[in-house]
Amino acid sequence: CGIVGYIGRRDATPVLIQGLKRLEYRGYDSFGIATVGSAIEVYKKMGRISDGEAGAAHLHGCTGIGHTRWATHGEPNDVNAHPHTDCTGKIAVVHNGVIENYSELKRQLLARGHIFRSETDTEVIAHLIEEHYDGDLLAAVNAILPELHGSYAVLAIAEDTEQIVAARNASPLVLGVGDAEVFAASDMTPLLEYTERVIYLEDGDVADLTPDRYTVYHDGRTVDRPVELISWCVEDTRKGGFDHYMLKEIFEQPQSFYETIRAGIDDRIRQMVLEAEEITLVACGTSYHTALIFKYLAEALCNIPVRVELGSEFKYFTPPLHGLVIAVSQSGETADTIAALKMAKARNCPTLAITNMQGSTVTRVADQTLLMRAGPEIGVAATKSYTAQLAALMEIVNVRCDGAFDDVLSHAHLAIGDVLLHEIKEAVALCAGAEHVFFVGRGAFYPVSLEGALKMKEISYVHAEGYAAGELKHGPFALLTAETPVVAVCTPGPTYGVMASNIKEMKARKAPVIALGVVGDTELAEITDIFIPIPNTHLLVQVLTASVVLQLLAYHTACALQCDVDKPRNLAKSVTVE
Ligand code: G6P
Repeated sequence: CGIVGYIGRRDATPVLIQGLKRLEYRGYDSFGIATVGSAIEVYKKMGRISDGEAGAAHLHGCTGIGHTRWATHGEPNDVNAHPHTDCTGKIAVVHNGVIENYSELKRQLLARGHIFRSETDTEVIAHLIEEHYDGDLLAAVNAILPELHGSYAVLAIAEDTEQIVAARNASPLVLGVGDAEVFAASDMTPLLEYTERVIYLEDGDVADLTPDRYTVYHDGRTVDRPVELISWCVEDTRKGGFDHYMLKEIFEQPQSFYETIRAGIDDRIRQMVLEAEEITLVACGTSYHTALIFKYLAEALCNIPVRVELGSEFKYFTPPLHGLVIAVSQSGETADTIAALKMAKARNCPTLAITNMQGSTVTRVADQTLLMRAGPEIGVAATKSYTAQLAALMEIVNVRCDGAFDDVLSHAHLAIGDVLLHEIKEAVALCAGAEHVFFVGRGAFYPVSLEGALKMKEISYVHAEGYAAGELKHGPFALLTAETPVVAVCTPGPTYGVMASNIKEMKARKAPVIALGVVGDTELAEITDIFIPIPNTHLLVQVLTASVVLQLLAYHTACALQCDVDKPRNLAKSVTVE
């Protein structure tokens, strides 16, 4: 979920609506805002902001809070949408996170006569504040926080005060400082138009916001949190003439890859990488795939043992750890990855975060941070953040190999540019007409295939599975028919021959095969139905170009099926709950 708050001299509603649109990638099943004018006014609605925002036009006031939801407790509907109010309607709250003891709190509140409207965990917060509120909102919020177990970024407003009280524990929350106005949000993107000055709150912080000042408290005492400058600008968040953010972001990859390579690695990280005897990576989703690619590359090219763990498993089934632990997370806020990183710290491992989000939670937890330079990624499906992660991870490989790939990496963006306009219509038509598609590859192209399949299923809803090419015969062959296309990545190298045999086996089961191979590979073109050429370059670059072609395949398939490419159903870009 995403939250935003505004207090200042402007009409709050348009600021909040615009801010929520920026945060929509964090969840988009319903949204709502509450403002304080002469009274608290609330408008909330199931569905997308652009479909329902007109309904909020009547809300008044220069103080307000808003929320865009990715459902955890209670199905998406108007009632479960935030903000939530207390019985009197004088207090409103928005919340990102999970209140783990909410059923117990709700039972107690019901017994004390409170009436609940929603099924959410959040509503208990409004009722608890109501019990303590006597005109001092800060005191009331402070009084109830010890009762909440779990994660929260909360914004609260009350009817008779021009004030927002914000609290953070294990869910992201930043403040934006303007001239006679203060913002609060889950990340910096809603602030970009208004200010470049941000404050990243820490877990346990409570902030008291009025138009002219903000005060941050920790353990009851005021604390000074540094004001940092944002490096992104508002232009980066616009669609720039493309049909979708995803396509724009795919096309930005030559630049974002290059920028990340150009930024390099600072000496402390270099030292950490050189000292590591073993590397463990923790990640989720697409980031897990970049971590797996790193494993193949680092083990093959620099002979260092690498282990890759899913964040969601690692916390509960922590393996024995030696050496450097790297958390890979574009948002820096994925709860599972953060939990894993904290476990690694508790085991005294040196830790490194690779993220695209300045100031995000992983940057606070890890010993060191390697910041990707992808700029804001709005499309829910990761594209340029994926290749920027690969840039950062390939830099680590390069450091371990004494700069052997300096030249390869500083030119890789040109090859990425080469494949952006590839003709893939036939392949798209084949995938768009299929119910199931397999993606296969060997070595580093195995995780490239996993990512190709993930992209396909998440945005086009065509069922797709990624497999190590040699594994298809151990079961999935049973599913191969003339209606199940297989996308195979097959480039020159030690596995070329065996890949070609695998492809022939698939063809013998009548599966149409779309092959990604190097330019001029007529042998491969002859044994497959559709051949998509990628530049004949170094393995590191082939990984990138093949990945970009698979992004385009998923994108155009989703467009052909008229899917909502930038906001696929049921998903959120940043999942801040376990
Ligand atoms: C969500 C997104 C995925 C993403 C994963 C990990 O599930 O939908 O696209 O790969 O989180 O995100 P992170 O920010 O940690 O890379």
